[in-house]
Amino acid sequence: MSESWTLLKLLRWTTGFFREKGIDNPRLDAELLIASVLELDRVGLYLNYDRPLVADELARIRPLVKRRAQHEPLQYLLGKTEFWSLDFKVSPAVLIPRADTEILLEEALEKATESGELLDIGTGSGAIAISFAHEKEHWQVAGLDISTAALEIAQGNALRHALASRCTFMAGDLACLPERAYDLVVSNPPYISTSEYETLMPEVREYEPAQALLAGEEGLDCYRLLAAQVEKVLKPGGWLLLEIGFRQQHAVTDLLVKAGLTEIYCRQDYAGNPRVVGGRRAF
Ligand SMILES: C[S@@+](CC[C@H](N)C(=O)[O-])C[C@H]1O[C@@H](n2cnc3c(N)ncnc32)[C@H](O)[C@@H]1O
Repeated sequence: MSESWTLLKLLRWTTGFFREKGIDNPRLDAELLIASVLELDRVGLYLNYDRPLVADELARIRPLVKRRAQHEPLQYLLGKTEFWSLDFKVSPAVLIPRADTEILLEEALEKATESGELLDIGTGSGAIAISFAHEKEHWQVAGLDISTAALEIAQGNALRHALASRCTFMAGDLACLPERAYDLVVSNPPYISTSEYETLMPEVREYEPAQALLAGEEGLDCYRLLAAQVEKVLKPGGWLLLEIGFRQQHAVTDLLVKAGLTEIYCRQDYAGNPRVVGGRRAF
């Protein structure tokens, strides 16, 4: 990158470089990355195509372009992502919240009564818990995670959305949940099998925390642990809602049946894949 670059020329060059390196959405990523360094929105970029970039701007953009070309996720480079139309801070300590997980949130919102208490197991960035609290002003939410680094991010996100008074984050292992029952329990736990892990795209396998993804040989370890504790963690009449991988519907349904839950169902995502399995503790 020389110093006589205009914004448009840099965009074109970066897009081509990303394409060459096998980045999925080369133009979009180039736009978002450059816009973020220049503190412009995308419209601002289009309006400034002819603007020459100064050396300092190029020096700040260059290392980020290099890192993205090495498949580091854009969201980690920007330090944020969007979930449920809210901004969330992310770092390599947390899984980047996925749009598919909004299905789990939709189900939770649908099951929620006027007020109550929700537990989000494996809360990560806090995306589910905080978005739920944002929608349901008479609910208290708790997020649990084994990673204290993730909990710090979640706490920061709750503060950022002025929801810290209704969001509590606690360190804990889902293998041994606290002795406390909730009206609604949601979880997007790790559910990738050992063999599937090897096939994941480099953005995920090399950069997102393995602890947030891997769940034993079949990817079912966390579901087994959660199913074993439904009596402890759910109030009578309370719902357990779990995000699942697209091949896990039957195995997870079986676990919930064996755990004695009722009204068990599966909700598909917008691509038609099974995405959430839910069940209710009898009254
Ligand atoms: C798939 S990520 C989900 C993150 C977030 N809820 C989301 O949907 O974006 C799973 C989370 O579970 C946490 N986790 C992994 N093993 C755990 C365990 N044994 N106990 C509690 N949390 C665990 C990870 O640290 C990670 O934050």
